[in-house]
Amino acid sequence: MNAISMPDTATATEAEPYFGVRDIHAYYGESYIVQGVSFAMDKGDVVALLGRNGAGKTSTLRTLARAGDPVLRSGEIWLDGQPIHKCRDFEAAGKGIQLVQEDRRIIPGLTVEENLVLAQIAEPRGWSLEQIYEHFPRLAERRRQEGVTLSGGEQQMLAVARALARDIRLLLLDEPYEGLAPTIVRDIERIVREIKGLGITTIIVEQNADAALALANRALILDMGQIVYDGTAKAVLEDKELRQEYLAV
Ligand SMILES: Nc1ncnc2c1ncn2[C@@H]1O[C@H](COP(=O)(O)OP(=O)(O)OP(=O)(O)O)[C@@H](O)[C@H]1O
Ligand SMILES: [Mg+2]
Repeated sequence: MNAISMPDTATATEAEPYFGVRDIHAYYGESYIVQGVSFAMDKGDVVALLGRNGAGKTSTLRTLARAGDPVLRSGEIWLDGQPIHKCRDFEAAGKGIQLVQEDRRIIPGLTVEENLVLAQIAEPRGWSLEQIYEHFPRLAERRRQEGVTLSGGEQQMLAVARALARDIRLLLLDEPYEGLAPTIVRDIERIVREIKGLGITTIIVEQNADAALALANRALILDMGQIVYDGTAKAVLEDKELRQEYLAV
């Protein structure tokens, strides 16, 4: 790199991170929750977003996905050169941000397959039904069953599969193991590992910090709506004091 050469417009954006969050502030009504969060991710990074109950993890993910609530009042969100802070939720989804919410949001009255097909109605599409069923044999077996009648673990698989049916550039997983039996957690973990192997940039929120840290290369810790740690996942695994200060219940 030549320090004195003047960058043209193309090289000026090359220095931008793949995913960049700059000083975002978000509110539920007048409740000020996300209080100036900034971080950056490279393509393929898997970040564990950790913090105590009520720290603002879900609110941060919802802000990034441009869900209606909380309302982003200031700050910028950039994905691969695109200004996500200017998007509505469906536009952010169209640009490849897929949020898998804790409550899974399976659509009642539709079969497993119909839930997946619905996700593929709009461009840009991701995995085909064949690819999804190959990775989620359990969903293939239950393709004609109504989605909301699946077990909790199967619904979680469907929620993740539905995100993969879209073209994902950034996957946001909010407590994907929540409320699931250990054997099912292992199935979901295997799938998340596959997603990581595909190089999909992912943020995973998890109460079980060890599970998330084992998967992630980086970690962010939130406390009262602010980032208090940004570093490697390994360092958090090894730093007992840090864990006690911000992650102990
Ligand atoms: N819809 C809402 N209206 C008002 N306040 C809310 C709303 N949702 C969350 N909050 C508040 O925002 C703060 C952060 O909540 P959030 O759900 O983001 O935390 P979290 O880190 O995901 O917690 P948990 O680990 O329990 O899921 C909490 O104080 C919560 O009470
Ligand atoms: Mg939450």
